Amino acid sequence: MSKVKLGAVPLVYPIPIVLVGTNVDGVANFTEVGDCAVMGIQPALVTISLSATHHTTKGIDNTRVFSVNFPSTQMLSLADYCGMVSGCDVDKGALFATFQGEHTQVPLIEDCPVGLECRVLEVTQIKHRRLFIAEVVECYVSDQFVVTIDGKKQIADLIQLDPIIYALDNRYYGIGSPIGVGYREGTCHKTS
Ligand SMILES: Cc1cc2nc3c(=O)[nH]c(=O)nc-3n(C[C@H](O)[C@H](O)[C@H](O)COP(=O)(O)O)c2cc1C
Repeated sequence: MSKVKLGAVPLVYPIPIVLVGTNVDGVANFTEVGDCAVMGIQPALVTISLSATHHTTKGIDNTRVFSVNFPSTQMLSLADYCGMVSGCDVDKGALFATFQGEHTQVPLIEDCPVGLECRVLEVTQIKHRRLFIAEVVECYVSDQFVVTIDGKKQIADLIQLDPIIYALDNRYYGIGSPIGVGYREGTCHKTS
């Protein structure tokens, strides 16, 4: 199989789309972010990468807290809009019904099935990007997306959560069907 080189592109896919919330000068602001990743399960760590000039970046630099909200596909136009305009010019906090995180007072979006309340641990700047590594201090899930399995509360499956997926072809996608189970599908290759 021949391979074609596309150059130095961070072609990681798929990319979950999130709305990052924070207070900027005391006003709630939300921006669309694709550069968000899990950094660890225990401890619960996430990272986001923001342009140093964003209104959101100023808010996180000052408050050291942010929220990560997962919009569903029916929120696509609002999510995209939050990636098109700056909180410098538009009151993006007014677009959503919000609630405050219990630990940090960070704003979260009611209509997003899942929201993470995050406290910044480390900040690194690489060129014009500011990378915030944060601990997740609480995870808020809308009750219709919580299922109880063997007496334990868990998050519903991705079909129900209906997240917005993005790719470097600049298109949004919906989620597909589940195709297997973690730590089980590889069993057929085990030799002992
Ligand atoms: C699909 C999409 C993904 C984006 N991902 C990021 C990102 O990961 N980091 C970033 O700094 N900006 C990202 N942006 C751009 C910001 O959302 C945009 O510049 C926004 O207006 C900044 O708002 P603010 O000034 O209120 O923070 C993205 C925009 C779109 C449309």
